[in-house]
Amino acid sequence: MNNGMKRREFLTTSALAAGGLMLGVGAASAGTGKMTGYAEVDQDLFKGINRVANPAEKTPLEKKHAPVIEAPDQVKAGEPFAVTLKVGEIAHPMGPSHYIQYVELLAGNEPAGRAEFHPGLSVAKATFFLILDKPVTLVAREYCNLHGLWESRKDLALA
Ligand SMILES: [Fe+2]
Repeated sequence: MNNGMKRREFLTTSALAAGGLMLGVGAASAGTGKMTGYAEVDQDLFKGINRVANPAEKTPLEKKHAPVIEAPDQVKAGEPFAVTLKVGEIAHPMGPSHYIQYVELLAGNEPAGRAEFHPGLSVAKATFFLILDKPVTLVAREYCNLHGLWESRKDLALA
């Protein structure tokens, strides 16, 4: 057996051992059923759209996640107006491990705007300008990487 053959055998054995080690780590993580690298979170938050249960008694989680819609109660048909979305009533963290990924605005069922945010750089706040020809319900949604999708609504009337 020459040195070239021994080197090839060593490299093959090393690669197989490293692959097995990586699979072993993955299996251990999968076996626990827990997300690694994140704080413990209620996984039920990811099963659907979260909304404030009782507006008179919001929980700290709701205050931090339910989008706040800043818009007039009444607008004039055909005239532009501003709608500002922010997250949330208590400012939400925007660090690398916990942040708001986006906010989006719908006028009834129609998409009206969307803003993506960058952790460590962005503030979870965006302003959109709309023009309406009929009364609508504004729907604001935001997505938190740890606490899922949240929604708020506000009815708009025409003056
Ligand atoms: Fe969050």
